Amino acid sequence: MLQRMTITRRTALSSLAATPLALPLLSQGPPASQSPIEKQMAATRDRRMQWWKQAKFGMFIHWGLYSVRGRHEWAMENEAIPVAEYEQLAKQFKPKPNAARDWARLAKAAGQRYMVMTTKHHEGFCHFDSKLTDYCAPKQGPGRDLVKEFVEAARAEGLTPGFYYSLMDWHHPDGAKCASDEAARRRFVDYIHGQIRELLTNYGKIGVLWYDVAWPLDAAGWESEKMNKMVFELQPDIIVNNRNKLDGDFATPEQTIRAETGGRAWESCMTLNDSWGYQAADDNWKPAKTVVRNVIACAHDGGNYLLNIGPRGDGSIPEESVRIFTEVGKWIAGNGDAIYKSEPCQVRRSNYASFTRSGNTLYMHVHFWPGNELSISGLRVKAKSAKLLRTGANVAISQPDDFRTHLTGLPAIAPDSPVTTIAIECDGEPHQDTDYVRKNRPRGKA
Ligand code: GLC
Repeated sequence: MLQRMTITRRTALSSLAATPLALPLLSQGPPASQSPIEKQMAATRDRRMQWWKQAKFGMFIHWGLYSVRGRHEWAMENEAIPVAEYEQLAKQFKPKPNAARDWARLAKAAGQRYMVMTTKHHEGFCHFDSKLTDYCAPKQGPGRDLVKEFVEAARAEGLTPGFYYSLMDWHHPDGAKCASDEAARRRFVDYIHGQIRELLTNYGKIGVLWYDVAWPLDAAGWESEKMNKMVFELQPDIIVNNRNKLDGDFATPEQTIRAETGGRAWESCMTLNDSWGYQAADDNWKPAKTVVRNVIACAHDGGNYLLNIGPRGDGSIPEESVRIFTEVGKWIAGNGDAIYKSEPCQVRRSNYASFTRSGNTLYMHVHFWPGNELSISGLRVKAKSAKLLRTGANVAISQPDDFRTHLTGLPAIAPDSPVTTIAIECDGEPHQDTDYVRKNRPRGKA
């Protein structure tokens, strides 16, 4: 019923046979099956997504009862912990007041411009004041509304708050039964829609609604179109992701950087170690250099980067996360133009650098500093001048032939860390053609 109609080759051909007027079915453009809410979302998308497109970098926060236990957010399921035993954590969960202020300050220092917190993860515990369950922060250990603290903390730092909300629920009695029992589905879907309504009614303007894990229902079962319709009635400016089984406003590649095609927006979400929720023993931290390179890789292809922290049960942030986020922030503070102002960039080939672009400026981000001189192959525009982005110091640049762009007179040791960025002014939109180099560069004697 609410499932979108799919046009198979057979139905398309049979309708073609029926009437030639069916021809436009095969042409490009919005699918004929777009629902009213999808049409409404498409019509307002550019306006709604403007701030997010400029934001580029956000903080994901996974925080829940699992943070008290410190063994990853999937512990309840992956260790098959009985509900009654797991529920004890709700009494032990006693975070320090306004822990979210430290997160927001760290996000700001890291150069992040929005924050998305788990308001309820798969475990089912709600950080917000819900009339629909007692399994929520104000009625358990914390004794107060943690979503309210989060929203206020984000706003105090000028960051946009966003809500992660898990549809899948391991605690709710109908969370699995809903797949096979219509009465259970009705109760559960009313509960989930009701909680989304609470979240988007009680905390002012929210930037992002980040659905997660639609198991065990499909879009029809979740009544996802009705869900999105309600969301936009409550928050006309919000953006939603694609994890309620509808396309939403943006795609959510997880633990990988993968651009969407056709201009569709995307956000790569990633852990800083190997766990979203606090896992005390997980020491597999990404170095700041990897994080900076990932921020650059997302900006190169026009996407956002949502990088996670997993605070402990008391709300404190693991020291390694603080150290790495702070180092990333120091790099962004001196090189922000190359990220925040970036537009999709075609130039990509180098063994020691990656690239972003803003207008006719090409940013060369050198992560393995080779020494006094650097080259780019096959740049098909004129490079007029170059400078170190952090200091503004000029860098000598020349294009001695049709193939090589040569930067010289550089220091032997990388002038910036963990990546050195050189801004190269070109006389047109930077474009690279290394095939041209391979085919046309004069070769040696046989
Ligand atoms: C997965 C995991 C979840 C995490 C999410 C973040 O869906 O189930 O633990 O919250 O990814 O993208």
